[in-house]
Formats: sequence, structure tokens, C-alpha cells
Amino acid sequence: MSAVGNVASSARFAGIAARRADFPALHQEVHGKPLAYLDSAASAQRPQAVIDAMVAHERRNHANVHRGVHQLSQRATDAYEGARERVSRYINASGSDEIIFTRGTTESINLVAASFGKMRLEPGDEVLVTWMEHHSNIVPWQMICEQTGARLVAVPITHTGELDLEAFHRLLTDRTRIVAVVHVSNALGTINPVQDIIEAAHKVGAVVLLDGAQATPHMRIDVQALDCDFYALSGHKTFGPTGIGVLYGKRALLDAMPPYQGGGEMIRTVTFEKTTWNALPCKFEAGTQNITGAVGLGAAIDYLSGIDFAEVARHEADLLEYATERLSELPGIRLIGTAAAKASVLSFTLGDIHAHDLGTVVDMEGVAIRTGHHCAMPVMEHFGVPATARASFALYNDRGDVDQLVTGLNRAAELFL
Ligand code: ALA
Repeated sequence: MSAVGNVASSARFAGIAARRADFPALHQEVHGKPLAYLDSAASAQRPQAVIDAMVAHERRNHANVHRGVHQLSQRATDAYEGARERVSRYINASGSDEIIFTRGTTESINLVAASFGKMRLEPGDEVLVTWMEHHSNIVPWQMICEQTGARLVAVPITHTGELDLEAFHRLLTDRTRIVAVVHVSNALGTINPVQDIIEAAHKVGAVVLLDGAQATPHMRIDVQALDCDFYALSGHKTFGPTGIGVLYGKRALLDAMPPYQGGGEMIRTVTFEKTTWNALPCKFEAGTQNITGAVGLGAAIDYLSGIDFAEVARHEADLLEYATERLSELPGIRLIGTAAAKASVLSFTLGDIHAHDLGTVVDMEGVAIRTGHHCAMPVMEHFGVPATARASFALYNDRGDVDQLVTGLNRAAELFL
């Protein structure tokens, strides 16, 4: 692997994609070809500003938070709580106590299922999910339904990979306690009409959790405008580090919920007879947290705050349209997920070439895509395929990356078809 100069790369990219210069990992060759990183839905690359913030914290400010009067602990606490404040402002929570740091979207959903689900669900109650959920928005609900006697109900999807809204309204009843829906599908790219879903769910008294893991890299989120009850997101999908994520919850709900895990920091008093809980958000942050991860996420939020998301939307829509056109020209291509409202995610199969073979051949052309069931086996079942190849685009990609993918896919077709 050799470095490719930033200047040359910048010349290749115009507009928002010039942001590519900010992401050092993109400036390298893989198998002798310039890297075309089309796997941001699995994990986005990080801008230099995020890396710098984490290194600076590790070098000078590392100490435990909320636990020391000494200078380093004060600095670490300020950095950690400063990150929470940034997240809160960025997604327009009504206060930073509504922001719980977790390991990521998966843990955020598990927290709500284990805590709110256990508190709220009774035999005969229903949790409504959809056929396009990631496993992390299915399995935690299955687990809590088994424990409480509630029933998991799944809204079907259409042949285009959109929610069957008629079925959603039919399946949403006065037995529904929780509606857990993905904002943007990782496997299909479908953007769900979450505002309508939330309004309808609230009419039957259900609370709504949105899995925002794939939404936050592509759009600004305003949790108060959405009026969602819970919103889960991951740092590493949002140009930040792994191992850090966020659960937003409405204060009244979080206040009423029992803790998810027990340990240090989540308590107010402990005796062998009785333990009392700390206030929000600490009640849900047992043990030493991923402090450097939070600092990195805070830096990612700073980075995103300087970006015009209307421009990102135009750029990614152009890329998706271009990629859809170019891939559609390939003999044997089948696009999986053709929703009218779509984020820049393109799932496909090519003839009967196994997705992993496709991934391996395009990797030799320097192109990184994801292959497999994308932790969304019900989606694969719906479309009757074991796996797909998936190219996912972020603000730093451009049409050259698409062309490189097409070259790789043509190579795969030559080899296998
Ligand atoms: N959920 C991530 C993806 O879609 C890992 O690739």
C-alpha cells in the first residue's frame, strides 16, 4: 500500500466530495489500485480531526471521569461531558441528560428492550418491528418478549423494499406497546416514513424507538421535531470511533425506567439492604465508560456540524443515481431494494456469482464493498437470496469510485459468467 497525495486526490473531487481530503485512510492503494471505499454502511472512515482529538486526549488528558478532583480527571470529565453536550445539541435533545453513552446502536436497543421492555410489557402486549430490521432491532425484542409473554409482530415489506404501510396500520393496534423501526435500512437503503409512523404509533399509545445507525451519516436528525421516544445511533457509522454510541430517550421515560446494568457510577447510595439510583444520565452508565470514544464522537459531531447536509443529500443522490444506472447496464444484475426514498446504499446480485466471490474480485480492483446477509436475514428471505453485495456511499465518495466498482464487477463477470 502506498500513499496517494492529498493534492492529487483533491483535484479529483469537487464539491462535498472534496471532503475526501479530510479522511487519511482513503488516500492509499489496495492491491496496487487507488482505494475506492464503498463500505461506509459497515463502518465509515474518520476525518483527521477525529483522530487528532482522540490522540490528544490519550496523550495528555486521560483519567477516569466523575471520580477525581485532580486536574486530569477534571479535564477528562469536561471532555466527556462536553461530548455529551455536543451530541445533545446536534440531535436537538431537550437536554444532555437525555443522552446516554453506550457501545453503539446495538447496546442502545438492548438497553431499551431490557429496561423499558421489562417495565412495560405484559402477556398479550405486542412489539411491532418490520421485516427490514437489522438483527439488533429484532433479537433484543424477541428476548424480552420471551421473558414477558409479549408477542413480536413484524410488518411486511414490498417487492421494492418499502414498508407495507397498509399492513403497518393494520398491525398497529391497542395491543402495541412499542414500535421499533429502522430509520434507514442498512441492507436496502430504504428511508422509512418515520414521522408518519411515530404519529400513528402515538395515537395508539405506543412508544417509538428509531434505529438511526444508517441515518445519521446521511442526514441531520432532530429528535424533538420527530417526536420519537428513543433514538439509537453509532459513533463509527457517523465518522467517529467504534465502541461508542448513543441512546437518546425522552427524559420522562428514562427517569421511569430501571437501570440496565449495575455497578459504579449508576448509584446514589449502596447498602446491603437497598441501593438507590443516580440521576440521568449516569443511571444508565455503569462502570468506566469509553471516554476516548466519547471524545472522538464529540469531534465527529464538530466535524459534521460544519457540513451542509442539503449538499450531502444532493451529492449522495447523484452518486446513487449514477451507480444505479451504471450497474443496471451489467448483464445479470439484480438490484435488491429499489425504494423511491433511498439513502446511498446499493445492494445487488450479479448472475449466480456468490456475493463473497464478487467482494473478493472487486477487492483486487481496490474496491471495498460488503457481502453477506448484512445482519438482516429476514430481508434476504424476503428477496429469496442468501446474500447480496452492497456498495454504500458516503459524503467522501465520487463517480470515480462507482466507475472503479463497475470495472471490478465486469472483471468478476469475465471470471465467473
Ligand atoms: N450493520 C453494519 C452493516 O450494515 C455492520 O454493515
